[in-house]
Amino acid sequence: MENMKHHQNPFQIEFSQHGDPTIGFISVAEKDKLTFVPKRVYWTYYTPDDVCRGGHAHWQLEQIMIAVAGKIELTIEMHNGQVFEYVLDSPRQGVFIPKMSWHTMKYSRNAVQVCIASMEYDEADYIRSYPDFKKAQP
Ligand code: TYD
Repeated sequence: MENMKHHQNPFQIEFSQHGDPTIGFISVAEKDKLTFVPKRVYWTYYTPDDVCRGGHAHWQLEQIMIAVAGKIELTIEMHNGQVFEYVLDSPRQGVFIPKMSWHTMKYSRNAVQVCIASMEYDEADYIRSYPDFKKAQP
């Protein structure tokens, strides 16, 4: 997968979908839709709808976020101040979250968020203070 294209900005991903309403559906994150070789997958659920999560950036981590159920409102602010806003409400859609982007998420109570991550968990890769994010040299 060495020839994977490097992406600097967020973008929406449409995954393939197989099946039909009589039997249900399967979506697949195939190699051609992944911008990195995954090292970790995590998921969040039962998030109260008055909670805003995220509120951090990563030095190196890249992620693809999917709302496999419910709805996620995702805001991504790039280091240059450009803001991208997404409503994830389809299990066949994802959003690529680049490194060095400040991201925040709001969830419907039934939302299940799956994140495909380019790196293993590393607290040292987090920038948890917004002023530190703005001061950081990417
Ligand atoms: P965090 O990424 O801060 O959550 P969110 O962005 O959804 O608000 O993660 C919350 C806590 O969960 C973090 O302090 C440690 C733990 N955690 C892990 O141990 N491994 C992981 O892969 C993730 C994503 C989180």
